[in-house]
Amino acid sequence: MVLPTRLLMGPGPSNVSSAVLAATAQPTIGHLDPAFQAMMEEVKDLLRFAFQTENAMTFPISAPASLAMEVALVNLLEPGDTAIIAQNGVFGGRMADIAARAGANVVLLTFDWGTPVAPDVVAGAIKANPKAKLLGFVHAETSTGVCSDAKALCALARGAGLLTVVDTVTGLGGTPVEVDAWGADVVYSGTQKCLSVPPGLAPITFSDRAIGCIEGRTTKVQSWFGDLNLVLGYWSGEGGGRSYHHTAPVNAIYGLLKGLQDLKAEGLEARWQRHRDAHQRLAEGLRRLDLQFLVEEDARLPQLNTVRVPTGVDEAAVRSCLLNEYDIEIGAGLGALAGKVWRIGLMGETARPENVDRLLNALGEVLPDLRQAAVA
Ligand SMILES: Cc1ncc(COP(=O)(O)O)c(C=O)c1O
Repeated sequence: MVLPTRLLMGPGPSNVSSAVLAATAQPTIGHLDPAFQAMMEEVKDLLRFAFQTENAMTFPISAPASLAMEVALVNLLEPGDTAIIAQNGVFGGRMADIAARAGANVVLLTFDWGTPVAPDVVAGAIKANPKAKLLGFVHAETSTGVCSDAKALCALARGAGLLTVVDTVTGLGGTPVEVDAWGADVVYSGTQKCLSVPPGLAPITFSDRAIGCIEGRTTKVQSWFGDLNLVLGYWSGEGGGRSYHHTAPVNAIYGLLKGLQDLKAEGLEARWQRHRDAHQRLAEGLRRLDLQFLVEEDARLPQLNTVRVPTGVDEAAVRSCLLNEYDIEIGAGLGALAGKVWRIGLMGETARPENVDRLLNALGEVLPDLRQAAVA
């Protein structure tokens, strides 16, 4: 089967370097092989670096990031607990759904799509719900391109004794994520965004407070695969002491290791700056094309740019033309923003000036035709 080579400028997956792809093609070995176990230790160390944490419980879940969201919530919540969930896009809504399925009473705080989670509203909800156990929110909302102030939100929660669950699926490796400095409790991500590793793994980290909460549960976690107590027997047993839980996706982890080594070699500051530079270049080009951002400048994620579709332009026609004629993928709007925006990802390997220029040139060719078609 011959697959096309695309420039991936949507909300993920992002482009994967040939070095990471080559790493995944190394010979498969057993997931309990000492050589693989040594590799797992390196992956855990590098994830601690990426998350900027000392948390011992830091590892990749063998699943896409939705399962990390589920693992975070179903392990911390027991039936009857109260969870405050902030929603300013699609993924906060998913958190609320999972928390409710875990039997929690959900206090849902909604914010306009395209705006960040407002700390004063969260503070009010914490005050009004003194028994709440946790606060969940999305740091980097992929559906809108908004960055919320994770440090302020975690500080509010911690000050009131609440645990935090922070989704930074689109944040990690693209924008500052500082788990220990934030005082966050459970933070998870995905491999397919700014880490530029193929989809299918979900890095996650747990603070000691979160582990204490899980150890103190009075009910069993209702998900067998997601029960942290069972997963950790595999991920945290010291050299050779690991017990079988599930068959780890070894080749995917080879790729993650290489992606994380590359992140470390580049350096976090340099990586974040590369994302900001790519965003700046895109913003200047979009201005020349007379296209507007959905999000105010100070809340924008450099790696996920939501751009308003001009009146009368068929947004799907633009995406399909870019894909079929230029081999460039950009994303559609999700949920309430479907049909109203495009989502342009500048994540990981994709966040390079030559890629931004290629998209801007293509848009410069495609848009005038479609604008004229809209007028005609
Ligand atoms: C913010 C956010 N959370 C969770 C997810 C779910 O990730 P996955 O599709 O890997 O399950 C995504 C996916 O795009 C996301 O952007």
